[in-house]
Amino acid sequence: SMDVHHLAGRPVIIGGGIAGLMTALHLAPEPVLLLSRTPLGADASSTWAQGGLAASLGDDDDPALHLADTLAAGDGLCDREMASRILNAAPGAIETLAGFGVRFDRMPDGTVRLGLEAAHSRRRIVHAGGDGSGREIMRALVAAIRSTPTIEVVEGFEARRLAVVDGKIAGVLASGPKGPAFFTTGRAVLATGGIGGLFVDSTNPLGSCGQGLALAARAGAVLADMEFIQFHPTAFDGSNRPMTLISEAVRGEGAVIVDETGRRFLDGLQGAELAPRDIVARAVWRHLANGHGVFLDVREKPGSAFARQFPTIASACARAGIDPTRDLIPIRPAQHYHMGGVAVDRDGRTSVPGLWACGEVASTGLHGANRLASNSLTEAVACARWAAESVAGSPDGGGKLAMVPHLPAPDPGPVRPLLSRALGVTRDGEGLKEAAQALLPLSQRHDAASDPAAVGLMIAIAALRRRESRGAHFRTDFPHHATLARRSQITLEAAIAAA
Ligand code: SIN
Repeated sequence: SMDVHHLAGRPVIIGGGIAGLMTALHLAPEPVLLLSRTPLGADASSTWAQGGLAASLGDDDDPALHLADTLAAGDGLCDREMASRILNAAPGAIETLAGFGVRFDRMPDGTVRLGLEAAHSRRRIVHAGGDGSGREIMRALVAAIRSTPTIEVVEGFEARRLAVVDGKIAGVLASGPKGPAFFTTGRAVLATGGIGGLFVDSTNPLGSCGQGLALAARAGAVLADMEFIQFHPTAFDGSNRPMTLISEAVRGEGAVIVDETGRRFLDGLQGAELAPRDIVARAVWRHLANGHGVFLDVREKPGSAFARQFPTIASACARAGIDPTRDLIPIRPAQHYHMGGVAVDRDGRTSVPGLWACGEVASTGLHGANRLASNSLTEAVACARWAAESVAGSPDGGGKLAMVPHLPAPDPGPVRPLLSRALGVTRDGEGLKEAAQALLPLSQRHDAASDPAAVGLMIAIAALRRRESRGAHFRTDFPHHATLARRSQITLEAAIAAA
C-alpha cells in the first residue's frame, strides 16, 4: 500500500545538505517540504567539507580576479557569464551565512580570516572551525531550519522516482520508514549532492551515489559535462573507506608533497604543490604507478600550528597512529567532486518543467573541466537563492498521483569496481567501451543496481565521446586538447542508444 500526501501546491526539496537547506530558507515564508534520507546533516557531504567557501573579500582581491582564476582552472570550459554571476555573489553569500549564525574564523581585528588553496592567486578561502567548515555551517543552518515553522522536514525518506505527467513534474515517489510514499507536487528541487559512493576510493559519504542524477535522467532531463570528475590529490592513504581528506588548505599553509626518498617530485610543475588540482592529482597518480610512495610533509610548515589549524585532520592522523609533527602522512588521489550534473539555467531550472537543481548535483557551468577549490559551497549558497526565487515565482498545478515503479534502495556495490577502473584519474577508449558494455544491461534492470548503473553509463558514454584531454578528464589515447572547447550534454536515452 502506498501512502499518498497531497501537498496542495507546496514545492518539495530533495536533499538536506547546504544547497537544500539554503533553498528552503530562502523560500520561507512560502511553505515547503524537505525530504532527507537521513536525520538532517547526518550523511550530507556538506557536513564533511573542510575547505570553506571562496569569496573575494581581501583588500587585494575582487570578483574579476576570482573569475580569472576560476576560468584558468576550468581549462576553457567554464560558462563565463554564469561564473561571473556566482563569483560576484560570493561575498554576499558569506554575509548571508553569517546572518544565519555561522561563526566564521576571524582575525583579531574581527575581519574574516582568509586562507589560500591551489590555483587561487589570492587568499580568499573562508573557514569556520579551522578544517570543520561544513560542520559549523550545517549546525547553524539546521538550527535555522528547525526554527522556521513553514519548513516541514521529513527525515528518513529517500526519493526513488520523479513522476512526470504531460511533460511536467507531477510528484515524488519516496521510500519512507513505513514503506513507499508519494508526494503530489508540481515543483521539485534536486539538492542531492555528488557521486563519490560510486567509487572505491572517495572522500564523500557513501550515501552520495548519484541518486539525484538518476532521478533527473529517468525523468528525461538533460545532463551536462558528466565526464568531468575531480580527484583530490591528498586523501589519507589508510584503511578507512570513505577516505579521510587532507585539505588543500594544509598545502596552502606550506606543507609539501614528497616521495619515499624525501624528494619534492612536483617541483618541476608550475605552481608545484599549489598547481590546479587535476594537475597535482595526475602527477601523484603517476608517481604511485611508477612504484613510489607519496606523502604529505607538514613537519616544517605548518609545523607545530598544524593540530590547532586543522583539528579534524590531526585527530584522523592520531587515530591512524601518525604524529604529523614527526611522521610523513601517506596520501593518494581519491574521487572528490563531480563537476558535471543536471544541466540548469541561471535560475537552476532543468530541462524538465517543474524541476530545479542546486549544488553538486547541478551543472551550472561554473566549474568547467576542473573546479577551483572551495568554489562549490559558494556556488550552492549563491544558486540556492536564485533557485528559490524561481521556484517561488512559478505557478504550481498541484501535481497528480501517477503510477511509478517501486524500486529497492540503490546499491552501488556492483558498479563501484567498474567505474573506479574505467573512470579514474586517467581513462582510455578501450576501458570506457568495456565499462559501457557492462553498465548497459545493469542500467535496464529494475533492481538495486539499476540507478547507479544508469549514472555510470551516462558518465562512461560522455567520457568516450570526449576524444581529448581537458581539465580532470585525461584520455591516455587522446592526451591533448581538441581545438574547440565544448561543453557536453547527454540524456539517459542517448547514452543507451550509444552504448
Ligand atoms: C579541501 O579542503 O582541500 C577541499 C576543498 C574543496 O574541495 O573545495
